[in-house]
Amino acid sequence: MLRDLNPYNPGSGLTPPALEGRGAEIDAFDLLVARSHAGAPGRGMVLHGLRGVGKTVLLNAFARHADAHGWFIVPVEGRATKAGHLAARQKLVRSLGMAARRFAGTASRTQRVVDALRSVTSFSVSFGGAALELGVEPFKGRADSGNIDIDFEELMEDLAPALREQGGVFGVFIDEMQDLDSELLSALLAVQHKAGQESWPFYVVGAGLPSLPSSLSEARSYAERLFDYRHIGALDVVAARAALEVPATRLGASYSEGAVQVLLSASGGYPYFIQTFGKAAWEAGEGRVISVEAAENAVTEGTYSLDVGFFPARWDRATPAERNYLRGMALDGESGSATSEIAGRLGSRPSSLTPARAKLIEKGIIYAPERGRVAFTVPGMAGFIHRQHDIWAEE
Ligand SMILES: Nc1ncnc2c1ncn2[C@@H]1O[C@H](COP(=O)(O)OP(=O)(O)OP(=O)(O)O)[C@@H](O)[C@H]1O
Ligand SMILES: [Mg+2]
Repeated sequence: MLRDLNPYNPGSGLTPPALEGRGAEIDAFDLLVARSHAGAPGRGMVLHGLRGVGKTVLLNAFARHADAHGWFIVPVEGRATKAGHLAARQKLVRSLGMAARRFAGTASRTQRVVDALRSVTSFSVSFGGAALELGVEPFKGRADSGNIDIDFEELMEDLAPALREQGGVFGVFIDEMQDLDSELLSALLAVQHKAGQESWPFYVVGAGLPSLPSSLSEARSYAERLFDYRHIGALDVVAARAALEVPATRLGASYSEGAVQVLLSASGGYPYFIQTFGKAAWEAGEGRVISVEAAENAVTEGTYSLDVGFFPARWDRATPAERNYLRGMALDGESGSATSEIAGRLGSRPSSLTPARAKLIEKGIIYAPERGRVAFTVPGMAGFIHRQHDIWAEE
């Protein structure tokens, strides 16, 4: 086994050696891109699911595909804190400016194109604090009121005719969309709404936690109709097997059937865990065929590496009160908990636990699948909490 060639790639947003099991989503997105060029009005797309299922990887694959088909890509990432909200806005302005510059580079300099670039410049002064160098003066009185709702719409009103004239499409790709500030989110939804009505070549493509669809509906009641919502979950058995086996096969290695079973069952089909256990199995394997024994060692090693990396990345961000809440939840395993039940368990009034719950939701560690219930956003979190004896001994 050539250890240096380990093909597996566990890590946030890291491109997997084989992107398996997402054919339906990829086909749907390819169709969206094809339709966008035909001028057909379309909806954007929203990917939602637990941590580590491959939303970022899929969103990036979409963005690459759209870019290769001539879209102007505007990447943005939501972040939950106040500073993060500001950073996301600045990133939006910068990305928009870069996309506008690429557009200017390919478009002929018609009046519509000049107006569009002037509007982007105004918008960048209002929200980015500095004019982008697009070689035009700001458009006075357009996209510069300082109110993002109005300005974003005016910007698109000026940009859309130019895009249409030149056959261009703008796509805003937003990761961690649940963490955008609510004003920016509402503005984006309003523009996507208008884009559908007016056939503007503008699409929002987002990814985020399972709660994302309901937060979008709360922000704008029509959000339900704006997007093709896709739940991204664990891989099915066939895809999970391929995600594990294909990278090894390419390098002339393979797994015994027993080893595949051990690794797939430990991973639960979750892409992050498949990469982690695959990587550990490659390291544990000797010879060209990875044995059951190597797979079992890999599960031990892989679990250890998750316990010092993937899980603490969340656990360590919780305060003592929040950790107490998480412990209360862990007793229900992975299936989620009734909030009233947790309160009973912790001997507290439900209202006194509300701040801890709200903070954990804001930090993206738990979410509310329905009223009165909470669940971990991180698959395997309950198991992790149970494995940590010192976590139970704390405080
Ligand atoms: N379809 C897939 N097949 C195989 N591996 C995958 C697949 N999708 C993602 N992965 C791997 O899973 C890991 C997690 O992917 P990614 O970071 O995209 O997940 P995520 O859903 O965005 O997680 P988070 O919610 O924490 O941001 C990465 O190591 C990636 O290489
Ligand atoms: Mg992600």
